[in-house]
Amino acid sequence: MVKNKNNKAIWNSRIKTKTSALYKRYGGSIKIDKKLFKEDIFGSIAHVEMLFKQKIISFKIKNKIIYGLNKIEKEILNNKFEFNQEFEDIHMNIEKRLTQLIGDDAGYIHTARSRNDQVITDLKMWMKSATQNIDLNLKKLIKTNLKIAEKNIKTIMPGFTHLKNAQALSLGHYLMSYVEMFTRDRKRFLNNLESLNENPLGVCALTGTSFNIDRKLTTKKLGFKNPTNNSIDTVSDRDFVLDFLYSCSVCAMHISRIAEELIIWNSDGFNLINLSDKVVTGSSIMPQKKNPDMLEFLRGKTGVMFGNLFSMLTVLKGLPLSYYKDLQEDKEIIFKTNDTLENCLKILDEILNNFSPNKKKMLELASIGYITATDLADYIVKNHSKSFREAYQKTAAIINMAEKRKKKLDELTLYDLKKIEPNLTEDVLKVFDLKNSVNSKKSYGGTAFDNIKKMIIKYKKQLI
Ligand code: ARG
Repeated sequence: MVKNKNNKAIWNSRIKTKTSALYKRYGGSIKIDKKLFKEDIFGSIAHVEMLFKQKIISFKIKNKIIYGLNKIEKEILNNKFEFNQEFEDIHMNIEKRLTQLIGDDAGYIHTARSRNDQVITDLKMWMKSATQNIDLNLKKLIKTNLKIAEKNIKTIMPGFTHLKNAQALSLGHYLMSYVEMFTRDRKRFLNNLESLNENPLGVCALTGTSFNIDRKLTTKKLGFKNPTNNSIDTVSDRDFVLDFLYSCSVCAMHISRIAEELIIWNSDGFNLINLSDKVVTGSSIMPQKKNPDMLEFLRGKTGVMFGNLFSMLTVLKGLPLSYYKDLQEDKEIIFKTNDTLENCLKILDEILNNFSPNKKKMLELASIGYITATDLADYIVKNHSKSFREAYQKTAAIINMAEKRKKKLDELTLYDLKKIEPNLTEDVLKVFDLKNSVNSKKSYGGTAFDNIKKMIIKYKKQLI
């Protein structure tokens, strides 16, 4: 381990006593922001290259600093760097080590720069790659959904409203609804790149600088699109953090909805799906149990992610411009949330690859609760020139009759049906067939088999 020899704080000529040890231990952010070391070094190299190009520092000093920074990166990667709480955060840890390595010339690195712009430059770069990584995980999850949807285009199950049987639908169609949600999540994350692509570097502490810096150059070098426009806003702005946390929350909410559905379907009451042993856990007392803990874990973590969004909103509420220590909270919240979402996306993918529909039970459940009632009403409208409201009343009367006789709709005879609507013919009986019912919903976006096939093809193409 390389020891930091100079243990004095950068501000030691102004602040005479050592800062409270308790605060240093607790208030420093090095344990959290050391994650940003690569971005910090990359940003510093671009900064000194720009300073040289603008004739603010010499060629020799620029090279010395870059040499030192590259060395520090290697030390960190090889676990040879000692992160020191004395120096608060990653920026000062690196600057201190640079001084040890190259001497006082390290002092030129912070020309025309403040930690205030440095930290958000690092964070934005980190969030850009985190966003791309989430996108990859979302893509994988969408592919899994498509694969299972394709296998289950003709798997018929009840669709619910109010958790009561509503209309029959295809399990494939159901899974495709999550493809829509996760695709919107992808868009939401990718939209965030617009503000993540604005480069904060060069706004310095809060007012900009009198040095003749070239912010467009660092923008280009660091892969941003434009420099930010207002120095005060830039230092104070954490909207990009909120956008990310909100996107994570919405995505987690989608995850929790599918998790909840699968928990219900897996319950002994519903028994619509089986979860393989890989994705269940047992009970310490009840030997028979196979519990959907992983799904419950996903549902629980959603609550934590919403909390993180609210933590950040609350940190920002009423905070005057521009930089205050309060803002340091952003990184822990972001890192935790990103990590949680990434793992939740992977866990959900694993669960989806490890469940099987209980097709027989799905069909059985779909055959109760007068699930084809709307099909009957539609049939009467189409074939007997009645308004939908009139057909609705006739259908309700037929259901009342079936209920009274403890029969399903398809157990009624044409003779029974004619008592309510005398004009009905034999042809009406086919509306009670569940497959016909599902396949008749051919309107764009409906559950008909061909619709689902086309959607799967469309989304597969989109993912290439
Ligand atoms: N560690 C600090 C943070 O994460 C860096 C910025 C410090 N700026 C300052 N003026 N104290 O917010």
